[in-house]
Amino acid sequence: MTKNTSLPEDLDAYFESHLLPSDAALEAADHRSQQVGLVPHAVSPLQGAFLQILAKAVSARRILEIGTLGGYSTIWLARALPADGTLVSLEISEANRAVALENISDAGLSHLVDIRLGAAADLLQAMIASGEPSYDFIFIDADKRSNPIYWESALKLSHKGTMIIVDNVVRNGAILDDETTDPDVIGVQDLLDLMSKSTGITATALQTVGSKGHDGFAIAMVD
Ligand code: DHB
Ligand code: MG
Repeated sequence: MTKNTSLPEDLDAYFESHLLPSDAALEAADHRSQQVGLVPHAVSPLQGAFLQILAKAVSARRILEIGTLGGYSTIWLARALPADGTLVSLEISEANRAVALENISDAGLSHLVDIRLGAAADLLQAMIASGEPSYDFIFIDADKRSNPIYWESALKLSHKGTMIIVDNVVRNGAILDDETTDPDVIGVQDLLDLMSKSTGITATALQTVGSKGHDGFAIAMVD
């Protein structure tokens, strides 16, 4: 029999089968997102659990997500919240937002989640200008070319102890190409340059392999 999965994918399946209980709401969210043709850019189940563990580890009561897509990571993160917690998620596409609202409603999490429609850079600027309270956990996972502005905004919406995670900082190593003209790759390179100049944070990056290929997270905590 020909094998058409890679070792990292097989290992993801193995870990999922051992560590993640089957979950109707997450499976339905994944299924609906595929049915309506959303881009397959959601985090993997194991990555979703990783994000949830990190949000719980900082006892997050207020979570900000930049880039909702179909709300798959939103569900993982909202489940880290206490009963009176809040998750604000920013989404530019009305169609994506509609799918996410259904997925979040089916997961029984609507009371915790506020999905705001618009360009995240504008929404963030308004949040900062209006003096919105800071967030305990921030997940940046939208258009990669805007990572620098998302990073700067995230810092402004942070407090000591805020954890900031940025998805997709590896993308098969594309960021090592210093002659790239791809604005999304440049967005990640500029993010890393900004992070290197940011004072008052402890930061790292973790490469990942698995069902999402070779990718990684940048992870920072505000000191
Ligand atoms: C892409 C975006 C993502 O957020 C992701 O997790 C994977 C891929 C993309 O734009 O290609
Ligand atoms: Mg992503």
